[in-house]
Amino acid sequence: MSEVHLAVVVLAAGEGTRMRSAKPKVMHELAGLPLLGHALATASSLNAEYVVPVIRYKKELLADYIRINFPDAIIAEQDEIPGTGRAVECALDMLPADFSGSIIVTSGDVPMLDLETLESLVQSHLDGGFAATVLTAIVEDPNGYGRIIRSNDGKFIQIVEQRDADAEQLEINEVNAGVYVFEASHLRTALAKVGLHNSQGEKYLTDAAAELLHQKLKVQALAVTDNWLVAGINDRVQLSEVAAELNYRICEAWQLAGVSILDPSSTWIDVSVSLGEDVTLLPGTHLKGETVIEPGATVGPEVIMVNSRVGARASVVKSHVTDSIIGADATVGPFSYLRPGTELGAKGKIGTFVETKNAKIGAGSKVPHLSYVGDAVIGEESNIGAGTIFANYDGVSKHSTTIGSHVRTGSHNVFVAPIKIEDGAYTAAGTVVRKNVSAGDLAMNVAPQRNIADWVVAKRPGTKAAEAAQKAKN
Ligand code: UD1
Ligand code: CA
Repeated sequence: MSEVHLAVVVLAAGEGTRMRSAKPKVMHELAGLPLLGHALATASSLNAEYVVPVIRYKKELLADYIRINFPDAIIAEQDEIPGTGRAVECALDMLPADFSGSIIVTSGDVPMLDLETLESLVQSHLDGGFAATVLTAIVEDPNGYGRIIRSNDGKFIQIVEQRDADAEQLEINEVNAGVYVFEASHLRTALAKVGLHNSQGEKYLTDAAAELLHQKLKVQALAVTDNWLVAGINDRVQLSEVAAELNYRICEAWQLAGVSILDPSSTWIDVSVSLGEDVTLLPGTHLKGETVIEPGATVGPEVIMVNSRVGARASVVKSHVTDSIIGADATVGPFSYLRPGTELGAKGKIGTFVETKNAKIGAGSKVPHLSYVGDAVIGEESNIGAGTIFANYDGVSKHSTTIGSHVRTGSHNVFVAPIKIEDGAYTAAGTVVRKNVSAGDLAMNVAPQRNIADWVVAKRPGTKAAEAAQKAKN
């Protein structure tokens, strides 16, 4: 289709009152992208000359999102005249006055529409020399959609909105999907004739199709076979239904690409995630953002992972991981909390009830139990004792701790940053490390232990402890 001129208009100016939200409807998220992001991604993949989103409600928020994520799009602003027809007129004003190709219109609230459907719609439209092509769907429950009115011999006549339809028209179960192809010049003249004479007092795009028929031009209505592709989201019930279906399809595609997913219904994968061969995802796993899981790794059950990377053959169980990197063959969890800037080396371990933040933990190093590791660099093959706190905050600023390779720190230590423990050093259990420790030294600062002989029998006579002590002595 490279020789034909195409522009895609994406309608996104409406408020979306049925969402009952402070946020515009098209900014609600689905599989890691706002609805508008899905619509614009598909529109952009068509390689049209122009992609024109139309905005009005909360326009600054939408414009910021579009400028950052779709910098090539040309933003059109709808004026105070309401309706999808007016929205398209405002988009046409942003195109060169002599633009004479095909205008594809899609909606910001129809997120599953795919490239193949659009391409075949455009192809059929061009092949048949139509002035307009309307995409339709034959559905069980037409509630909420515009109805497609056809003549007895099946030719398209017009689209009637639900609120303008009579009882007989309401029975029709072929509906307008809200996706169209128009010839630009015909669309301009047709929209100029469309009025606001309907129950909502809006300028309907749907009326442009009927207007073109009045002008004796060819208009066709084509039904899609997979209705999910044109499912429009108007409220949060529909949002969750489409989210489940889209997620099911994302899981299925990964399964066919070599990923084991035990329970797709409880495994949620954003569109931006990437998975290697022989990855296993166990129930209750949520993979978000730019997360990458390398071949052979196992994630789950119950893992939330955001913008993170898991190395080959690593395992992550029941943990929350954000903006972190986990090395090959490493293990994380259960109950680990990896905050931004955590980097765990190959074969490393972050264990149970361990929280990490801005922490580089070298290859083969382990933080197995009950610890907080914040603002730290740990070398290779070191072991951090159970119950250790990296005290990185002095009440005013954050400081960092550096630990070398092959270090063994005792249980229940506090490392008061800034502090450095060099290669091969040890620290004793219960040490509060306030001074640097040189390579190979043992640090200890706990008070020497004193045992007071027979204290229990003398001070707690008659207790079970005293009884047991006496029995043990006899
Ligand atoms: C629209 C169609 C209906 C179709 C349905 C499919 C019209 C008149 N009706 O109805 O036939 O079955 O989509 O999903 O076109 N928008 C603007 N400016 C406006 C109004 C809406 O840009 O002034 C945008 C919205 O942001 C949304 C899209 O157009 O992305 C559709 O608007 P919506 O109000 O959801 O229309 P429907 O009632 O669903
Ligand atoms: Ca809609």
